[in-house]
Amino acid sequence: MIEAKITAFGTNVPNKRIDNDFYEKLIDTTDEWIVSRTGIKTRYHTTDTEFTSDLCEAAIKDMLSRYPVTLEAVDMIIVATVTPDQPMPAMSCVMQLKFNIPHTGAIDIFAACAGFAYGLTLAKGLIAAGTHKKVIVLAAETLSKITDFEDRTSCILFGDGAGVVIVEAAQNGEKGNIGACLTGSYGEGGPDLYMSGLAPNLYGAEIKRNRKIVQNGKKVFKWAINTVSKEIPRLLAMDGLTIDDIDWFVPHSANMRILEGISSELKVPMSKFLESITNFGNTSSASIPLALNQALKSNIVKKGDKMVFFGFGGGLTYAGNVVTWGLD
Ligand code: UT7
Repeated sequence: MIEAKITAFGTNVPNKRIDNDFYEKLIDTTDEWIVSRTGIKTRYHTTDTEFTSDLCEAAIKDMLSRYPVTLEAVDMIIVATVTPDQPMPAMSCVMQLKFNIPHTGAIDIFAACAGFAYGLTLAKGLIAAGTHKKVIVLAAETLSKITDFEDRTSCILFGDGAGVVIVEAAQNGEKGNIGACLTGSYGEGGPDLYMSGLAPNLYGAEIKRNRKIVQNGKKVFKWAINTVSKEIPRLLAMDGLTIDDIDWFVPHSANMRILEGISSELKVPMSKFLESITNFGNTSSASIPLALNQALKSNIVKKGDKMVFFGFGGGLTYAGNVVTWGLD
C-alpha cells in the first residue's frame, strides 16, 4: 500500500469580527450565557460579497506562502463544505479554474462538520490505491449565510472559515503520516441537525423550510460526547495505539462543553485538546484546521507529535484520523 503524507497546510478566516455583544443587541441573550454554555468569545463572518470560494482561494494562497509546494501536479481536489457558493459548479471546479491546475479531478463532499476528516480519509484512500499522487483537501464554510438569526439557541454558535492541506504519496521508502482513518454515520439523528433543500419532508416528517440550520442542540450534544469518546479508542486500536500515545486530541470545535465531556469520558486532561471554538465559534468542517493552525502558530504542536482529528455533525456523520505531524 502506498503511504500518504501531508506536505502543506493553510487556513483563512474573513475579516469581519463578530463579538458576543452583537447577539445581545439582536436576541435575548448575554455574553455570560454564550461564554459559559459554549465557550465562544468571538467568531468571524463573511460580508454579503464574500463566499466560500473566496475563503478556499485565500486558504490555498496562505498555504502556498507558508510551504514550498506547487499545485501543478495536483490530480484531485476535494472540497468539504455544506455552504458552496452554488451546488454546481462545485467549489473544487472553481478552485481548478482559479489556480489553473491542468490535470485534476474535482469533487465536493457533504459530510458537514466531519468534512475535513472525511476528506483526509478519501485522500489517503486515493493515494493508497495508486490512482492519485497529489490531492488538495479543503474544508471551508460560510455558516453565517445559513444561520437563522431568530433562533437564539443556534445563531450564537456559527462562524466562517477555511483550512486546506495537500496530501501526497510518500516516496522512496519515506513513511506516510496519515495513519488509521475511521468513518461512521447515524442517519436516525438526521432530523436533529438539518438544512432544508428541495424536499418538503425529511423521512416523511414535515420540516422547517427556511434553508437555514435547524438544530436540536441537546440531542446532538449528547450524541457527540457518547460517539466521539467511544470511537476514538476504536480508531487508535486500528493503529495499535492507546490514548496515552496521543499528544493532541482535535475534535470538531462545536462547543467547549462537548470537548470537556469528551475529555472527561476519555480521562484525558483538557490541556491535551486543541480547540478553535473560543476565537472562531463553530466553523463546521473548518474547525479542526483552525484549531491546528492556532496551535502551530503558538508553537504548541511540534513535528513528530501524534494527533487525533475527529469530526462529527450533520447527517449525522463522524470521521477520525490519526496523524503524525510532519511539517515545521
Ligand atoms: O457542529 C455540529 C454539531 N452541533 C453541535 O454539536 C451542537 C451541540 N449543542 C450545543 O452546543 C448546545 O446544546 C447549545 C449551545 C446549542 C445549547 O446549549 P444547552 O446548554 O444545551 O442549552 P439548552 O438548549 O438546554 O437551553 C438551556 C436554557 C434554556 O432556558 P430554560 O428552558 O432552561 O429556561 C434556553 O431557553 O438556555 C436558554 N437559552 C439561552 N439563553 C440565553 C438557549 N439559548 C440561549 C441564548 N441565550 N442564546
